Amino acid sequence: MNVIQVSDKKFSLSMSEKEILTQVKRVASEINRDYEGKDPLFLGMLNGAFMFAADLMKEVNVPCRISFVKFSSYQGTETTGNVQEVIGLKESIKGRHVIIVEDIVDTGFTMQKTLATLEKSEPASLKVCALLCKPSKLQVDLGDALKYVALNIPDDFIVGYGLDYDGYGRNFRDIYTIVG
Ligand code: IMP
Ligand code: MG
Repeated sequence: MNVIQVSDKKFSLSMSEKEILTQVKRVASEINRDYEGKDPLFLGMLNGAFMFAADLMKEVNVPCRISFVKFSSYQGTETTGNVQEVIGLKESIKGRHVIIVEDIVDTGFTMQKTLATLEKSEPASLKVCALLCKPSKLQVDLGDALKYVALNIPDDFIVGYGLDYDGYGRNFRDIYTIVG
């Protein structure tokens, strides 16, 4: 099944689960090396990162915790402007080594805001582990916070392995690129 229909668009197979898992294992081994004895707290960003987080965590072998959160951005009152918050964060991240697990960094704006919001809670360190990055679309400099990237991809819209088009397609085990 190399071409699939998701909602009103067609997508073709671009990365098999096997290829994805090879790179997931590679970033997990970098994390295992860097976080030995640091008791990291992984924050999986819902919804997109659920599948990546599950596979990544199976390869992480340092003692750690994981929690799932959602980043929400909404228009507040005139004086406060655009309000951002991380919903679902139960534990304190103050003094913790935090690794944000994200599906994809596209323009980077979402991650820039997420980092700024979490930084206010004074973690000991704050890094991003992204499944995918579209380097040609990055518009902000995330500096050394964007430390772990499993796969760099071209500027094409993709679905599968947790990522959606119009809410659909998250359940596919492989990644598909939009056709045309
Ligand atoms: P950014 O703020 O532009 O970096 O957007 C990041 C968010 O856009 C991701 O967390 C995804 O939810 C979504 N996104 C960006 N590119 C894609 C894609 O190719 N497929 C599905 N979702 C995407
Ligand atoms: Mg997302």
